Amino acid sequence: MAVQDERRADESIPEHLTTQYRIEELRRRREQALLGGGPRRIEQQHAKGKLTARERLELLLDPGSFQELDAFVTHRASEFGLEEERYPGDGVVTGYGTIDGRLVYVFSQDFTVFGGSLSEMHGRKICKIMDLALENGAPVIGLNDSGGARIQEGVDSLGAYAEVFLRNVLASGVIPQISVILGPCAGGAVYSPAMTDFVFMVEGISYMFVTGPNVVKAVTHEDVTFDTLGGASVHSAISGVAHFSHDNEVASLQAVRQLLSYLPSNNLDDPPLRPTADPPDRMDETLNSLIPDSPTRAYDMHAVLRAVLDDGEFLEVQAAFAQNLIVGFGRLAGRSVGVVAQQPSVLAGVLDINSSTKGARFVRFCDAFNIPLVTFVDVPGFLPGVNQEHGGIIRHGAKLLYAYCEATVPKITVITRKAYGGAYDVMSSKHIRGDINYAWPTAEIAVMGIDGAVNIIFRDEIARSPDPEATRKRLEAEYRERLANPYVAASRGFIDEVIEPRETRPRLIAALEMLRNKRQTTPPKKHGNIPL
Ligand code: HXC
Repeated sequence: MAVQDERRADESIPEHLTTQYRIEELRRRREQALLGGGPRRIEQQHAKGKLTARERLELLLDPGSFQELDAFVTHRASEFGLEEERYPGDGVVTGYGTIDGRLVYVFSQDFTVFGGSLSEMHGRKICKIMDLALENGAPVIGLNDSGGARIQEGVDSLGAYAEVFLRNVLASGVIPQISVILGPCAGGAVYSPAMTDFVFMVEGISYMFVTGPNVVKAVTHEDVTFDTLGGASVHSAISGVAHFSHDNEVASLQAVRQLLSYLPSNNLDDPPLRPTADPPDRMDETLNSLIPDSPTRAYDMHAVLRAVLDDGEFLEVQAAFAQNLIVGFGRLAGRSVGVVAQQPSVLAGVLDINSSTKGARFVRFCDAFNIPLVTFVDVPGFLPGVNQEHGGIIRHGAKLLYAYCEATVPKITVITRKAYGGAYDVMSSKHIRGDINYAWPTAEIAVMGIDGAVNIIFRDEIARSPDPEATRKRLEAEYRERLANPYVAASRGFIDEVIEPRETRPRLIAALEMLRNKRQTTPPKKHGNIPL
C-alpha cells in the first residue's frame, strides 16, 4: 500500500501508466469484449430467436466455472477495409469450464462478429482449445453459429479450417468431441462437426449443407428452403448427420450435459459411476410375457430397455433415424453401457444400410471410450431388395460386422427372439468375441426363417406329398422343434446360458461385474481397413 501511495504521489508518471489506470483499462477492454459485435447485433441475434455465444456457454457449463482464454485476440487482416473493423475475440469465445464438476473445453462462435465467420485468428483460438483438450484428456464441445470461412481472408481462413479438421481427426477416439449446431453451418465448414462424435441440432435455427438452396436451384433446379435442405428434422430423420434434435437451445445444451454424464473424459478413463437406488437383483416379471406367441407379431424393444436399465433411463442416440435399430446409453448398477438393440416394431428389426452404419458408428464410439456393449438381438436378417443391393448393403452391413469384431470392450448379448443367418453372426455373436451370450427361451437361432428354410430343404418332399399344405405345416413344426430354438446353440456353448427374460437385469449386471478387468488385444497394425 505504501509503495502504491508513493507511486501516485510521483507526478512524473503519466496517468495512463499508473497501476490503477491500467487495471481500469483492463476492465474497460473486458467489458468491450463481452459485447462481441455490439448491442445492435446482439439485439438482432435475439430477434432471430437465438442466444448469444456467451449466453449459451452459461447454460452449458456449471455456474461460474467458465474460464476464458484469448478474449483479446483480433484478426490481422487488412484487405477489404477489415483493418478498420476489429472486435476483441474475433468472433469466437473460447476457454474451459466444468460440467457436473468435470473439466471440458469449449468454443462458442459469436455470430455478432462477422457472422461468426472463421478467420485465421478465430481458427487459431479453436485450435488452441483443441490442443489443450487433447493434452489434458477432456472433452471438447463446439457451439457452431457461423457464416463459414471469412470471405475477406481467403486462403488464410481456408487454412485455419483445415487445421481444425486435422485436430478433429487427431482427437478422434482420444477425447469425446461434441458439436452443437446453433445457426448456419455451410460449405466445407460442415466437415468439422461431421468428424466429431455427436452432432446436436435445434429445430428452426440450425442448418447444415455443403451447398445452399441457391446453388442447388442453379445446378439441379430443385426448389428447397434452408430448413427442407438441411434443417434439424432432415438431418436427424433422413440423413443421419445429427444425433440429437431439440426444439430449443436450452433443451439442446442441457442434453449435452446429460450425454457427457455417460462418457469418460478420455480413452484412458472410465465413464463416471452414477450410484442408483435401483437394486441390481431387481427382476421384471413383465418381461416373461413380453414376447408374443406368434413369431410374426411385433413388440416394443424399448420396453425391454426400460425394464432392464437403471431406473428405466435410456438416452437414445439418433432416435429418429433408422428406427429398426435402437442405439444409446444407459446404466447398469451405476456403470455406463452402450445399448444396441433391434426394434421388432419397425421393419421387423431387419438390418438395412442405414441401421448398419448407425450401429457400426455407435459400436466404434463405445469401443474407443471403454463403454461396455449390451446387444439385444431380434433380427430376421438383412433386408432383401434391389435398392439395398445396389445401395451397397454388402459394404454397409460389413461395417457393423467389422465394428463388432474389432471391439474389445466387454460385449454382452441377449437374443430375445430371432437371430437368423448372417445377422446372427453380426450381432455380437460368440464367434466374434461376444463375452457372454444369453438367449431367452423364445430365441430362434437358425440359418433362415422357418418358412424359407422349409421351402428350400423340403421343396421336393412338399411337392410330392398328397397334401402339400399339411406336409409343409408338419415340416415347419419339426424344423422349429429341432433348429429354431436356443438349445442347439447352447449345446455348442455358443450361448452361455438360456435365461428367463425377467432375470435379464441381474444377469447383465453380474456379467459386467465379472468382465470389469477384461483385457483383449488385436494384432498390432497401423490401422485396419474398415469397409467405408
Ligand atoms: C465474412 C460474413 C460471412 C463470411 C456472414 N458474414 N458470413 N463475413 N465472411 N463468410 C457477415 C455478413 O456480411 C454480415 O455482416 C454479418 O456477417 C451477418 O450476416 P447476414 O448475412 O446479415 O446474416 P443472415 O441474414 O442471418 O445470413 C447468414 C448467412 C449469410 C446465411 C450465413 O451471411 C451468408 O450466406 N453468408 C455467407 C456464407 C458463405 O457463403 N460462406 C462461405 C462458405 S464456404 P454485417 O456487417 O452486414 O452485419 C466455406 C468454406 C469453408 O465456408 C471451407 C472449409 C474448408
